[in-house]
Amino acid sequence: MFTIDDLAAHEILDSRGRPTVKASLLLSSGHSGTVSVPSGASTGIHEAHELRDGDPQRYRGKGCLKAVNSVRHIRAEAASRPWRSQQELDNFLIDLDGTPNKSRLGANAVLAVSLAFARAVAGAKGQSLWRHFASLRTDGASMPAQLPSPTINLFSGGVHAGKQVALQDVLVLPLPARPIDEQMAAMAEVYACAVDLIARDYGQRNLTADEGGLAPPFKNTHEMLAQADSCCRAAGLEPGIDYRLAIDAAASHFHVDGRYHVDGKDLSAGELVSLYRIWCRDYPMHSIEDGLAEDDWTGWQELCAELGDSTIVLGDDLLCTNPNRIRRAAGSACANALLLKVNQIGTLSEAQDALELARGYGWHVVASARSGETEDDWLADLAVGWQADNIKVGSITQSERLAKYNRLLYLGNHKPFGSGAGRLA
Ligand code: PGA
Ligand code: ZN
Repeated sequence: MFTIDDLAAHEILDSRGRPTVKASLLLSSGHSGTVSVPSGASTGIHEAHELRDGDPQRYRGKGCLKAVNSVRHIRAEAASRPWRSQQELDNFLIDLDGTPNKSRLGANAVLAVSLAFARAVAGAKGQSLWRHFASLRTDGASMPAQLPSPTINLFSGGVHAGKQVALQDVLVLPLPARPIDEQMAAMAEVYACAVDLIARDYGQRNLTADEGGLAPPFKNTHEMLAQADSCCRAAGLEPGIDYRLAIDAAASHFHVDGRYHVDGKDLSAGELVSLYRIWCRDYPMHSIEDGLAEDDWTGWQELCAELGDSTIVLGDDLLCTNPNRIRRAAGSACANALLLKVNQIGTLSEAQDALELARGYGWHVVASARSGETEDDWLADLAVGWQADNIKVGSITQSERLAKYNRLLYLGNHKPFGSGAGRLA
């Protein structure tokens, strides 16, 4: 039993300088948990509702004082009551909100409370946060034995970089799974090669996009991919042996009137899938995220039928970490992997349902940050505790990204994931 003695929230600024919510929760045992929630820009229309003030005089309408107020309301209802579990608290938050998409209290308020409770309970149990997350699993998953492998955002386009090119991200994955220190060192070299390449080919210094990806004026999507591949080779890596590439197309953002605007052309879903087939032939592609628009279910089916045997077909805006949409996608063979973003659904327990459902289908799972992030590192613990295959945090620059990677580096250097001191991890 855990009793909440106090709960408070305030606005902080995220990596884009926009407000978000930070909440602190105190248990009667004296243990507390403080958590900051992230915020997307390339958001899916089926995500839970992020409550913003809408006052144009303040933060251009993006203030979070209403969400802070929601936390006060939750405090009034939840304090002094005994909570047996995370699930019980989350069910209460869902009922208190009472809407299908958390639009009354705001998913930003609800998630801040849900996660702050998890962090406080981990403290009360004397456990690392990743161990506590692992202990929440209800599907019989064993304790994690290894860390998720990072996917590094190398180049950005789309809404994260002023739409100079349609594709939102080209990412690099280190292979095979080596110690996290080696993976990060290899990726740092690729990033350094990309900085050199941009100076040489575009005469630019390293201007970065929202997630720290480099964003030179690529002529087209082919160039964006080819240059990413060149950077990996320049770093001395062998395609398919030392690295793979991934894309997050975020295709909803270039989908207009049923057609896909790519490189000055209007493509049908089938033509776009053919383009992906060529990229999978020419490059060591690991995964395609949001290859089609969020409600183009038949397009997704075509993509999965065409490439799903050899490539990870990853749903972000398609699935929105929502169990109902995951069920539909699995039932109609539209995807074979889940991008897990806890704030897309709003509580830890619902995100866990999404995870366990996806695992039940045998899907690949990528735990993901948002483009608007904070210095909080809970995502690293979540990705480890819930045994995500990959963690997607952005590039290896900017402290809001590095907070997560540096947490992985810490865990990778301590038992049980590394050889350093055990009790610390
Ligand atoms: P976000 O999107 O801007 O909504 O966080 C990132 C992504 O598409 O993965
Ligand atoms: Zn995405």
